Amino acid sequence: QELKFNLEQIEKGGYEHFMLKEIHEQPNAIRDTYRGRLLANEGIIRMAGIDDNLEKFLNANRIIIVACGTSWHAGLVAEYIFEDLARIPVEVEYASEFRYRNPVITDKDVVIAISQSGETADTLAAIKLAKSKGAFVFGVCNVVGSTIARETNAGAYTHAGPEIGVASTKAFTTQITVLTLIALKLAKANGSMSKTVFHSHLQELELIPDKVKEALKADKHIKEVAHIYKDAKNCLYLGRGYNFPVALEGALKLKEISYIHAEGYPAAEMKHGPIALIDDQMPVFVIATKKGHYEKVVSNIQEIKSRSGKIIGIVTKGDIDVKKVADHVIEVPETIESLTPLLTTIPLQLLSYHIAVMLDKNVDQPRNLAKSVTVE
Ligand code: G6P
Repeated sequence: QELKFNLEQIEKGGYEHFMLKEIHEQPNAIRDTYRGRLLANEGIIRMAGIDDNLEKFLNANRIIIVACGTSWHAGLVAEYIFEDLARIPVEVEYASEFRYRNPVITDKDVVIAISQSGETADTLAAIKLAKSKGAFVFGVCNVVGSTIARETNAGAYTHAGPEIGVASTKAFTTQITVLTLIALKLAKANGSMSKTVFHSHLQELELIPDKVKEALKADKHIKEVAHIYKDAKNCLYLGRGYNFPVALEGALKLKEISYIHAEGYPAAEMKHGPIALIDDQMPVFVIATKKGHYEKVVSNIQEIKSRSGKIIGIVTKGDIDVKKVADHVIEVPETIESLTPLLTTIPLQLLSYHIAVMLDKNVDQPRNLAKSVTVE
């Protein structure tokens, strides 16, 4: 027993919980994900799984992404990335719905399955269904040699290293990294991105680990914000465009480990329902980075303010407008729009972590949840 305890302490590397360790591992994890693949100075992305099957991707009518949980949120971010950068139509499906829906799939479809564990039963079943209809199935997994990694026609690992905390953190950001690399590679190959723009994306992606590191430095301030809102009964998370899925993921993180009810919503949809919930007891976390519908989000923030909601803005460093209206702001470094989710996710992870710790919850093993769900 004592030996086990000590081993666990060593594995946590000085952090109080695996989740916190894994949050802080993200700069290195993202670097490990693109190592050997992203050659920014040469203007090359090297990925054998894509190179070997390039025609399949280039001739695809559409890409269908199947996943569950946090991996599904990474799929939603990928939808914006693929459509915006590579101009390929994308559909993102909950694997559990897809598998029972009698979906229309043909051999002109490429299916991307995203799974940290590579063992999720619904995702596996969705893959088998897609394969039986003749689709080409590509896996984005973290666990090497996992069932999904073996069942797919080709794939790319995230190389995030083991993720122990049930609430997924570094798996999410590394999944987005891999999917960004794929989208950029396809954008270059199908001519939807100019060489110059492609190069600047590569350069910017290479800087992300350092920017994540900088985002992590807001930890002390985030802890103070967590302390203020730890007793909230409900929380709302809003974002637009690339950061709409980040709002969903922020809400999921809070639910999973602190058991506070939280909802993620596209900021503009707020007026079709959630706005009815807003009063002075409702913290609203709004992702309002400079790149990506900034003015629109600022006006959404004003709507919340006029209903006495408490506003916590996730903003670009140096922001002025949101600061004027929000109760608190948490800054992240500036980057290009398509890469903002890799930064805006960080404070939301830390916030959930601190709230859960303050509420004395079992952060690494929340009640009723499992790290990998191998049954239906
Ligand atoms: C479980 C985990 C989540 C994870 C989801 C999908 O619900 O608790 O953290 O996102 O399964 O898992 P996968 O391994 O397929 O990414």
